[in-house]
Amino acid sequence: MQTPIPRLQVNNLTRRYDGRVVVEDVSLRVMPGKVTCLLGPSGCGKSTTLRMIAGVEMQDSGEIHVDGNLICDTVFRVPPERRHIGLMFQDFALFPHLSVAQNVGFGLSGDKAPKAARVAELLDRVGLSQYHAAYPHELSGGEQQRVALARALAPRPRIMLMDEPFSGLDNRLRDGIRDDTLDILREEDTAVLLVTHEPEEAMRMADEIALMRDGRIVQQGAPYNVYNAPVDRSAMAFFSEINVIRGRVQGALTETPFGHFLAPGVPDGQEVEIVIRPQHIKIDFDRHGRGPNPTPQDGAPARGVVERARFIGSESLVEFRMDHDGSLLKATVPNVFLPKPGKPLWLMIRRDRCFVFPKDG
Ligand SMILES: Nc1ncnc2c1ncn2[C@@H]1O[C@H](COP(=O)(O)OP(=O)(O)OP(=O)(O)O)[C@@H](O)[C@H]1O
Ligand SMILES: [Mg+2]
Repeated sequence: MQTPIPRLQVNNLTRRYDGRVVVEDVSLRVMPGKVTCLLGPSGCGKSTTLRMIAGVEMQDSGEIHVDGNLICDTVFRVPPERRHIGLMFQDFALFPHLSVAQNVGFGLSGDKAPKAARVAELLDRVGLSQYHAAYPHELSGGEQQRVALARALAPRPRIMLMDEPFSGLDNRLRDGIRDDTLDILREEDTAVLLVTHEPEEAMRMADEIALMRDGRIVQQGAPYNVYNAPVDRSAMAFFSEINVIRGRVQGALTETPFGHFLAPGVPDGQEVEIVIRPQHIKIDFDRHGRGPNPTPQDGAPARGVVERARFIGSESLVEFRMDHDGSLLKATVPNVFLPKPGKPLWLMIRRDRCFVFPKDG
């Protein structure tokens, strides 16, 4: 079987501003009908990457291919308007003096009849046919967003670049519009590169997540894998709160108050961090100063005292001050359980859910 050609392929893009590297050696591929999310904190280079692909900014090195054809390297450059790339940004400005239908048809050239048919088709698809003659100020934020999507899709772009397009919408509206948008983009077989700094949004929307930090892609893969097999402590912390327990390696093992943890391949004497998410800490009752017996899976229990417990709807977030070193650990537990501050409880760390990373630096 022939390997399919990616709709978008980016090889080793690098961009410097005043000698400072803001995008470094970024490579990405997106297949038709698929969504890749560029996820990372503010300032890590997401928008700059998108602008280079759109062609409104030049890279210092690297290449961009669309359907296997080179569209840009450091010598050759297809202008932005001939790249068949649609753009949708957070501040998607509709033209205020044009009607909804005129906005959607704005980027279309050619005969009147097919143009009108495409506009009608898209307005129908985004559920706004009845508003075709309305003006942007007569629409809600969510409706305007859908017009912007229809406008971006009208010329049948092969690739859609979206930069935080949903961040201006309130939460409940956002979920619905995100799902609708994805359905439409998949139906149109568009390859989507979506920028966000919200892990929930990335996990909800992406077929693949490219996690960026300081201009580089540090991890790339399906949401499930990126969440469940983080490359390092920061990658893990980007997706959820974490707890860190420190130890030193001796004979490929780290001894902690929670029992031994495997540290395969880590040299003796190296400091490591055992990192665990709050939802994977197990809690047990105090039995006159004694906890449950150690098990191979849960390791040894260590005692702590509830410092603070907050009810947050589907669960409770409990902070413990640990007896052995006074450190704080966080655990989330089902909301039926809301212990009082001062209550002693025993904590266990699920070995199959923790990660052992060599200490940074
Ligand atoms: N035109 C420019 N001149 C100089 N520096 C720039 C320019 N554009 C961006 N930068 C810098 O490049 C870095 C990356 O910016 P970029 O806009 O790509 O970040 P981002 O990941 O999109 O962040 P955010 O999530 O806040 O939008 C930032 O430190 C920014 O200050
Ligand atoms: Mg940005």
